[in-house]
Formats: sequence, C-alpha cells, structure tokens
Amino acid sequence: MSDPLVIFTPSGKRGRFAVGTPVLTAARQLGVDLDSVCGGRGICSKCQIQPGYGDFAKHGVTVAADALSEWNAVEERYKSKRGMIDGRRLGCQAKIMGNVVIDVPPESQVHKQVIRKSATEREIAMDPATRTVLVEVAEPDMHEPSGDFERLQAALRDQWGIEGVTADLAILRRLQPALRKGGWKVTVALHKGNHDDRTRILDLWSGFFDGGLYGLAIDLGSTTIAAHLCDLRDGRVLASSGVMNPQIRFGEDLMSRVSYAMMNPGGDIEMTAAVRQAIDTLATRIAAETGVEPGAIYELAIVCNPVMHHLLLGIDPVELGQAPFALATGGSLSLDARDLDLGAVNRAARVYVLPCIAGHVGADCAAVALSEEPQKSTDMVLIVDVGTNAEILLGNQDRVLACSSPTGPAFEGAQISSGQRAAPGAIERVEIDPATKEPRFRVIGCDLWSDDPGFAAAAGPITGICGSGIIEAVAEMRMAGLLDPRGLIGSAEQTGTPRCEPDGRTHSYLLHDASAAGGPRILVTQGDIRAIQLAKSALYAGARLLMDEIGIDKVDRVVLAGAFGAHISAKHAMVLGMIPDVPLDRVISAGNAAGTGARIALASVAARDGVEDLVRQIHKIETAIEPRFQEHFVNANAIPHAVDPFPELSR
Ligand code: FES
Repeated sequence: MSDPLVIFTPSGKRGRFAVGTPVLTAARQLGVDLDSVCGGRGICSKCQIQPGYGDFAKHGVTVAADALSEWNAVEERYKSKRGMIDGRRLGCQAKIMGNVVIDVPPESQVHKQVIRKSATEREIAMDPATRTVLVEVAEPDMHEPSGDFERLQAALRDQWGIEGVTADLAILRRLQPALRKGGWKVTVALHKGNHDDRTRILDLWSGFFDGGLYGLAIDLGSTTIAAHLCDLRDGRVLASSGVMNPQIRFGEDLMSRVSYAMMNPGGDIEMTAAVRQAIDTLATRIAAETGVEPGAIYELAIVCNPVMHHLLLGIDPVELGQAPFALATGGSLSLDARDLDLGAVNRAARVYVLPCIAGHVGADCAAVALSEEPQKSTDMVLIVDVGTNAEILLGNQDRVLACSSPTGPAFEGAQISSGQRAAPGAIERVEIDPATKEPRFRVIGCDLWSDDPGFAAAAGPITGICGSGIIEAVAEMRMAGLLDPRGLIGSAEQTGTPRCEPDGRTHSYLLHDASAAGGPRILVTQGDIRAIQLAKSALYAGARLLMDEIGIDKVDRVVLAGAFGAHISAKHAMVLGMIPDVPLDRVISAGNAAGTGARIALASVAARDGVEDLVRQIHKIETAIEPRFQEHFVNANAIPHAVDPFPELSR
C-alpha cells in the first residue's frame, strides 16, 4: 500500500508521506508556508492547521476517517491553557495517518497577506527581515568544549537551517544567564535584510518569548514626519501619527534649508540633530499610544526626499543645492539605528532607507512607485506626489519615467496672502455661484457650508485658507468668470460684483470678511493667483515633459499621491490645468502612497529588492536642463492652458 497522500490548501502542494510524519515536517518538505517559532515543540501555536476531510473527494482520492493522529497531551494542554478554534490542530503535533487535505489558515502562514485599505487597495505579502525563533541549545560538555554562542550557532543551523549567525557584544554578555535560566532554550530575534550575507541576533529571551516585534514605517517630509507603527509578524498597522519637521525653523522649503547649511557653518549638523530628535519623539509617542514598549521596535523603514535623506544621514546637502545635483549616495541603505543616534527604539534596531531615484527625485518617490506599481500598469498612468516639490512618475509596464518639478510651497498655502497650513479654521472647500458671484465655503473641522444655519457657531474663528482651498477658490473664480484665461482678476464693473476690489493696480476677490468682528478679511489677490499659476505651471510642465519623452499627448489615468492629493478635487485641479486632460473618474487619490511604500518595505525583504530593481529601471528626466520644460511652463501659465486642449472639461 502506498504512503498517504497529503494535499495542502490554499497552496495546492501535495505529496506522499510515511504514516506518523508530523504535518509540520510534511509542510516543510513540500515548501508549504506554515509558521513556527518554537520549532515544533508545541509551545508557540503558530503552526495551527485545519484538516478538511470534507473537501477531499473533489481531489479524486479516498477519504480517510482517521487521517490524523489522535490529540496528544501537548495539544490537550495547549487547548486547555490558551484555547483553540474548533477543528484546528497543532501542525507540529498532529501526525499523518491517512489521506488528508490540510488547510493552512492565513494566520498560520509566514508570508500571510495583509490587506491595505486605500483607494488603490492591494495585498502585501509578508516577508519580514526580523522574526523570532525558539532554539534548544546543547548543554556544555567537558569532553567537547565549545562556547555557548558556538553551540547556539550550531543549534540554529541544525534546527532552523540558519548558518553563521552573528551577535554583538551586548548580546554575548546576556547569553549565558539567558541560556541557563531558560533550561538551555532561548528565543532569539533574528534579522536578515536584503543586503546582509549574515543573519544577526538583535535580541534574546530565556525560554519561549511570545511578545511582539514592531517596526516603524516613516515618511520623512520637509513639513511633517509621519509614521506607522506596524506589527512585524503580520504587517498590521497599530497606530499612525505625525509631528512637524522641526527643521522648519531653519527654512520653510528644501532649498532654504540647503542655503542654511551653506551660510551657517555647522547648520547641517543642527538640522540633522533636530530631525533625529523628532523621529525619537515620534517613536516614543506612537509607542505610548498603543502600549508598546519603544524598545520593542526593532526595525525602521524610512522614505524621504534627497535633502531630507542627506540631513537624516548627517551628510551635508550642499551639493543638492546646485547643478548637477549630485547625491552622496542614491542607493538604499541598511544601518544600525545607533548610527543615526536614534535612542528611543531598541538598541539593536535596524534601519532600511529606500533608494533615491535621482538628485531631485527621492526615496519618497521610489516609495510611491513601490506602492502604486506603475511598472505593472497596462494603461499609461501619471502619478503625482504634490508637496513643495512635485515628484512625478509616468509610465506603464513597458517603461517608467520620473522627474521632479519645483512647484514651491503655494499648494501648501504658503506664499498666499491669507494662506495657512491645513488646520482647523482654514478654508478648505470653495464654491462660487456663477450668476451671483457669491462664495460659500467650508473650513477644516466643520461639516457645514458657510451658508448653512449654525455654521458660524460650528466653524469657530476662520483664520485663513489652506492649499486645497486656494486651488478651489482660483478654479471657481475662473469658472464664475471672475478671472480671465491669463489669470487676471476683473474689476467690479467687469465682473458685476463688488467683491472684486481694487488692490493697487490690480484687483482682489473678497472671499470672507470678518473684520466687523475683529477677524480677518480673506482675499484672493492677484499675487495669490500668480503664485498658484507658477506652481501649477511647474507641475503641468513636468508631467508634459515626461509625456513628450514617451511620445504621448494623453494619459489614461492620474493618481494624486500625498496628503494634499487626498484633499484636492479632481475637477478643480483640471480646471486650473494642474494635471493633463483625462476623464474625471480616471483621477484617483492614493493617500499617503509614500508612507504605504515605507510600510511595504518594512514588511517585505522581497519588496526591498523589488524597489531597488525598479529604481534602476526608472528613467530620470532632469527638468532644470530640459529646454522644453520652459516652453511647457510658459504655455501652462494660462488657465487651463494656452495650447493644450481640455475636452474632458466640457463633457
Ligand atoms: Fe510551535 Fe507547533 S510549531 S506549536
């Protein structure tokens, strides 16, 4: 009689095994993704499986009534102490006795899939660099003298197939008491990144340790630093938080920070210390929010633009302030957190910094590419990450291009007469009646429109207008006939509304007047329109340059990334001519795609290899030296554009 047939689902892997083979052993031999931390000792419960006798007939083999061995004492003890879902077994304890179909539930798969919730929902396969394993180390023997660490290395090789593990002095100091206290069993946290030829021990515990391993995915922006605290075992996001980048006090935008470093000896060191301190503060805060010990954070994945990248690493960014914008290094980096003076996280924590694409196209853009996968797209997708600099990707499965365009801070509400950051009290949505020219608006933190009853009490003081608000205001002014295609605001006589006030030799549009109550008069001035025109022209010209390079005059899809992209209205962006003409339902927001890219890199070593490959393939266009950029920029100054048609706007 032949050996029993075992079929694993959902992988479909199958094989015949001798009666009495543990399910975990069969799974390992077939390469089935079945987790184990304790190495089959019946302690960790990671190996839970679900025998599915009922499904067996469809595979065309005879159903065995007692296909798995009876419950043993280890399983009974585990179930009584910690509980188990009915029908589940421990794969390391249950033995194969006859033909059987065995389902591996998602939580028992090492490379389990976690779902990312966003407009562009997709799955991320877990492939973490850091994990724990329980190992049983041989006791010392006078007849075969060897060090405890050497026997630990041998045990990891024999029990887990992991060769040549390394440990630093702090781990070696703790090893002997840990081994003896744990009865020669220790759990070790192991790390092997995609650049490492060795596995290193980050931490160890006596006996079996079932505590968490956590990581931080950080999007280090020039204005804010955002972080997701993730469980490294399954990729779940436990909390997300952010702090202002304290480097703002050295300069609002990137170039002013580079200038600060140029003009002030030691200025780069000050900025480096400030950003590292902020990451420590953020790590401490986000851990406290979730009750996680900061010392349980063993990994960080960081994405940032090139200037932030250099300042984080402690590299003077001066070369990034002048052509040819040479990076000290653009490759990805695997570092010790200690090298970056990050003291809040575990002392042995590792940091993965994603690769930069070019001198002005950073690791944040690489992270957007990792998240949005333009290289897998069958249609031509334009991805725009709008910040102080717009980082732009265009491509499909044949080719991907990237550039950066100097939009300046106007889209963030800076350089706008009543502009402010997106915060409660800022006008964020605007509508203007084309007949009466009267505005209505909404402010951040209030769901009512300004002409709804109860608005004044619910909205509180109105303090200014944020980036999405000024974009909507300018687009609405154009649609209401208050603004001509050149971007000039008409007079009261020309437009028929006294809200268009004289303002020196130009005019301004009065959006809101709280002066009677001692509040501000919020105007859209001619200078504001110019600032938005310059920003949108730079963005459009960058996109157009990439379209020229590929040889197309239309894209199939536009993805707006970044927090700003999440708030901007597709219709208003197109009325302004910020983005090329495309059906409005083909403009989607990807949210903080750079942060999602950081999360993916944190969760998966394979994804790190993937993004490094992708960055090597992306063709970079330098807008500063492309003569056509200036031509596109000038034509894009008109609203929506001097030359390019926008047929979708008239649909
Ligand atoms: Fe740990 Fe089965 S492998 S309980």
